[in-house]
Amino acid sequence: MSEAILEMIGVSKHFGGVKAIDQFSLRIEPGTIYGLIGPNGAGKTTIFNTITGIYTADAGEIRFNGKDITKIRPHEAAALGIARTFQNIRLFGNLSVLMNVIIACNMHAPYTLGDALLRTGRFRRSSEEIRSTAEHFLEIVGLTDKADDRASSLPYGHQRKLEIARAMATQPKLLLLDEPAAGMNEDESKELVEFVRRLHRDYPITIMMIEHHMDVVAMLCDECTVLDFGKTLAQGTVEEVKKNDAVIAAYLGGEL
Ligand SMILES: Nc1ncnc2c1ncn2[C@@H]1O[C@H](COP(=O)(O)OP(=O)(O)OP(=O)(O)O)[C@@H](O)[C@H]1O
Ligand SMILES: [Mg+2]
Repeated sequence: MSEAILEMIGVSKHFGGVKAIDQFSLRIEPGTIYGLIGPNGAGKTTIFNTITGIYTADAGEIRFNGKDITKIRPHEAAALGIARTFQNIRLFGNLSVLMNVIIACNMHAPYTLGDALLRTGRFRRSSEEIRSTAEHFLEIVGLTDKADDRASSLPYGHQRKLEIARAMATQPKLLLLDEPAAGMNEDESKELVEFVRRLHRDYPITIMMIEHHMDVVAMLCDECTVLDFGKTLAQGTVEEVKKNDAVIAAYLGGEL
């Protein structure tokens, strides 16, 4: 077996009496698209929060490319190449669409604060490069013609795409998408599927996505986990999971 890009082993996170995730394990192979499914409050976002260091797990171990990241801080996760979008969109609403991506690109800026203050050649060159990188990622998500609009003026579906452009601009190895199709209509979510496919084809990334739309998961994901009350109900390919008795019982003939 090749080395997993992400491995969670017996990870638990409790909030008071609530076991948000309980002895949770998973293994994601590099270069795949992995789905995380489950009802509201199942613990999906908590899993993302433990991977990205927003919360620290109470027990268990998280490994990224073989490295123990259980106690990582958010900026360290970003520096290692883990990027995410948020379920509750987090953009700089008053800034332009382009500026939102430029800020994300700046994480990799090859200049120092001194260069920026003195406006050295290195700073000017590098800020031009950053601008064109940001424009590139806006183009990828199809928001080029919105570059000068205020981020908060975009419709919901476009704001979600802008979040993805921001995450991609940090050039991650692992991209975590928290309900990317939420608030999108059917056409927009079809477009999102195409666009995630393209990202996956064109960049050397592994994607993990939380998604309620089963059709989106079925179209994109190589494997998935169904989570319920912080525990795994089933893991495997979408086809396998759909046939799982515990999953069928939990969903009572619902969306799955
Ligand atoms: N910071 C927190 N403080 C207290 N409880 C929390 C906190 N974060 C999450 N929880 C609780 O942990 C459980 C799992 O929450 P989580 O947000 O991970 O679920 P989810 O699967 O992402 O749900 P949704 O589909 O609604 O986004 C819920 O009961 C939630 O109330
Ligand atoms: Mg959530």
